[in-house]
Amino acid sequence: MNSNDPFKKFHKRKPSDKKKNSGNRIFVVRRTNKNHKKIQKKLLKIPSRLEQLIEKYIENKTGKPIKSSGTLERIKQSILVQKAGYWKKNPFAKYERGYDVFAYLAYQAPVYIIQFHSIIQKLEKGGHLPDNIRILDLGSGPGVVPLALIWFLKERKRGTLSIEAIEQSEEFIEAFKFLASEFANKSPVKIEQIHQTDIRTWESQKPGTYTMITCQNVLAELPGQSNVEKASLLMHYCSFLADDGIMILVEPAELRHSTQLRIVQKELEKSGLFLYSPCRYIHAGRCEPVNCWSFEELPGIKPTRLMLLLSKDKEGYRFINTDIKFSYSILTKKPLNPVIPQTILMGSTPFRELEDNIGKTVDVIGVKMSSDIGVRDFSVFLLCDGSGGAKVYLVIPKSLKNVEIKKVKNMDYANIIKITSVRVRWNKNKNSINLIAGSTTQVSAIHK
Ligand SMILES: C[S@@+](CC[C@H](N)C(=O)[O-])C[C@H]1O[C@@H](n2cnc3c(N)ncnc32)[C@H](O)[C@@H]1O
Repeated sequence: MNSNDPFKKFHKRKPSDKKKNSGNRIFVVRRTNKNHKKIQKKLLKIPSRLEQLIEKYIENKTGKPIKSSGTLERIKQSILVQKAGYWKKNPFAKYERGYDVFAYLAYQAPVYIIQFHSIIQKLEKGGHLPDNIRILDLGSGPGVVPLALIWFLKERKRGTLSIEAIEQSEEFIEAFKFLASEFANKSPVKIEQIHQTDIRTWESQKPGTYTMITCQNVLAELPGQSNVEKASLLMHYCSFLADDGIMILVEPAELRHSTQLRIVQKELEKSGLFLYSPCRYIHAGRCEPVNCWSFEELPGIKPTRLMLLLSKDKEGYRFINTDIKFSYSILTKKPLNPVIPQTILMGSTPFRELEDNIGKTVDVIGVKMSSDIGVRDFSVFLLCDGSGGAKVYLVIPKSLKNVEIKKVKNMDYANIIKITSVRVRWNKNKNSINLIAGSTTQVSAIHK
């Protein structure tokens, strides 16, 4: 990790971060400054039924209660091995043994289910989810994406879901079948087929029928494949997608995976797909994804019962995974985003021209590409308008008592923001542009 990077505070929770359990509500108490100020956030959680099913699956497979110390110990060892593999220079993961799968279900799956569920909610909010979803999920693991969709369908209480998936690990497929069929129980969900094969060689018998093709946390596990090769594999899958279908790619927020996703995304756009979210090309220019690092962050999740069981002993924090940060791309065959009218763009300075406006006060329109990555005295948000040039950050002094600009904090990741009257500064330490908010700065959301 680059020590100058403004995203550095987002890396893994430090052992000094403690959890406090107050009745049913768990708050994360984060040591943010010398005063150990408390930040209390509403925590997300996976459905209790799903938690129970994960425990039941492990119990069925081991023949022992979930609390058995032998089982917990072996799951812990497998979690540590898995985590070490993910952080390697060449990431490495094996999902051959039952305990590899238990570790994944205990540690990784809860946050991944919630993050995918949030992407689906975003699409629903935008009116882009069909009632009847036909999904093909690539590298499904224990069915994480389908489980998030089943959860969503149960909440929506409308439409149907038909699931096809490709996964190479037999152990994962066994867990997938159990969890998805039990969790879907009595809902209009059909698990069509889980193909045990390699996504690089699979051919569809039903091209043009899927309304959604998904690939979450898989691209990073395709060793030896260049970004161009990954994009061409995904384009091949796009030919199986209905004309109004959606392709959703998700990768870890970690710098290398996140940046590679943006490069693959650009290749896919060059091949004819349209990007729906998170990026927008507000002004003409040249977007260079090579240095682009942007990810969504959600409030943390409530640790599952299994995580709490695993974390009872010394260094228990190593088995609690509650942070949600992920990079995603939503792509389509037809453009979904409306063009932003010239009347709205008029008077806003494209980001590629900001270097010519150092010291001046300008109006801009950009997409919010990060949550608050600031420090004690300043809120800082990464912005982008797709026109290229240096990285651009909106810097808001916390001393500023301007209600308007507090709105930025409340806007969602990937929302378009119009900001009037900000001063342009060059940050020579980071070779980036800072847009400094002042008392006359105004902010509004653009819903396009
Ligand atoms: C990190 S897991 C992600 C699982 C799930 N999509 C999720 O979001 O939790 C990566 C999955 O991709 C599968 N995978 C990796 N390469 C594959 C390939 N070439 N063909 C099929 N599956 C593959 C792995 O077996 C594993 O289940």
